[in-house]
Amino acid sequence: LRVAVLISGRGSNLGALIAAQRRGELPIEIVLVASNKTAAEGLRLAEANGIATLALDPASQPDRARYDAELFARVGAFAPDLIVLAGFMRVLDAAVLAPWAGRIINIHPSLLPKYAGLHTHKRALAAGDTVHGASVHFVTAELDGGPLLACSEITIEPGDSPDTLAQRLLPREHALLCRCVQWLAQGRAEWRDGTVHFDGVPL
Ligand code: GRF
Repeated sequence: LRVAVLISGRGSNLGALIAAQRRGELPIEIVLVASNKTAAEGLRLAEANGIATLALDPASQPDRARYDAELFARVGAFAPDLIVLAGFMRVLDAAVLAPWAGRIINIHPSLLPKYAGLHTHKRALAAGDTVHGASVHFVTAELDGGPLLACSEITIEPGDSPDTLAQRLLPREHALLCRCVQWLAQGRAEWRDGTVHFDGVPL
């Protein structure tokens, strides 16, 4: 499976995909790593692994819609079968997402549909939740709102801060994302006319 990964920063989720692929656990080829941040560390990681990179600075485009169109035109030129948003911190225009329906996923650090958007750890703590987690979902025009593929749950411990929660969650995000990409690469998980199917059965 040809995979393009979009990042905005550290790229630890990207790193997990690269490591899993190298261990032979993921039948994928990461054909491109693209970022809206020219200084994203994850771009260095990709280069160190011989993966093509693309950094497109939003300042280089006249407006948001044109930026998204340009970014996705360039990503599309690599003919990915799947686009993975992994720490990609930009809301994408519905127009560019439509052609990729069922072929673009995102990992989000909350138990969706709770806490779409930012500051998820702080919000879970403020709500007094006892569980937290990460979710992988198919990307639609609704921010962090597309059909869920899988979640991974952790408990919130007394004394947890947003940082300790984020730290404990991150390795679980990595495992969850790798598992979801594996299922998609194996054809076990798939998107069929707007519904996620697993082993041929709608979730
Ligand atoms: C992660 O918590 C991810 O869930 C969120 O951005 C954070 C950084 O991800 N979307 P990464 O280390 O850049 O992969």
